[in-house]
Amino acid sequence: MKKHKSFFITIEGGEGCGKTTQSKLLKKYLEEKGFKVVLTREPGGSVVAEKVRNILLNPSFKVVPLCELMLYEASRAQHLEEIIKPNLKKGYVVICDRFTDSTLAYQGYARNLDKNIIKKLNDIASCAISPDITFYLDVEPKEGIKRAKSVNKGKLTGGDRIEKESLKFHNKVRKGFFELAKKYPARIKKIETKNGIEETQKNIIEAINKFLQKKNLL
Ligand code: TMP
Repeated sequence: MKKHKSFFITIEGGEGCGKTTQSKLLKKYLEEKGFKVVLTREPGGSVVAEKVRNILLNPSFKVVPLCELMLYEASRAQHLEEIIKPNLKKGYVVICDRFTDSTLAYQGYARNLDKNIIKKLNDIASCAISPDITFYLDVEPKEGIKRAKSVNKGKLTGGDRIEKESLKFHNKVRKGFFELAKKYPARIKKIETKNGIEETQKNIIEAINKFLQKKNLL
């Protein structure tokens, strides 16, 4: 029987950390447990938000930091109303590949925009809906960028606008995620990715099972 318990999971991490693969594996795992699951992503996830994603990630565009921040939040506002809120209301588990922590890590810690303003905008765009649990998949930026580029190679993209940023930028993003994980230890679970897909999945499943038990959802 399908379980009608809704909760909100986000998956975060630097470039090439394996979020997309792990999100799909987690969806499958939860469905096998009887949950109804929707998998979505940011930026994007709805028709309009995906259009904004195309602007944000186009490597031939020059986007100033404030415009970048506003576009991520604009995409989020649309995505929240069209996908996240209605699915949570219908009793689905929503897994979102990136969410508000990415904005703090990338636009706050790496681009140096004011974190208090970002928090306010995050709250406005997300209607103050906060993830119940967040998996931060950690990868050493040098390694992650190599992985991301090898995935993109087939598409001949040579990397999107953010992937093309300097190693220094990506190190700041990672430091940002570390600080967020330290600040919100009850919500953000830091997961090591260097031991491969299976080991990473095992650690995510262990953490989700603990969460489900605590919430009486198993
Ligand atoms: P990805 O979904 O393929 O990881 O690509 C999304 C890119 O957008 C990634 O480089 C991280 C970046 N990003 C931000 O800079 N701020 C945000 O708020 C979000 C959601 C993503």
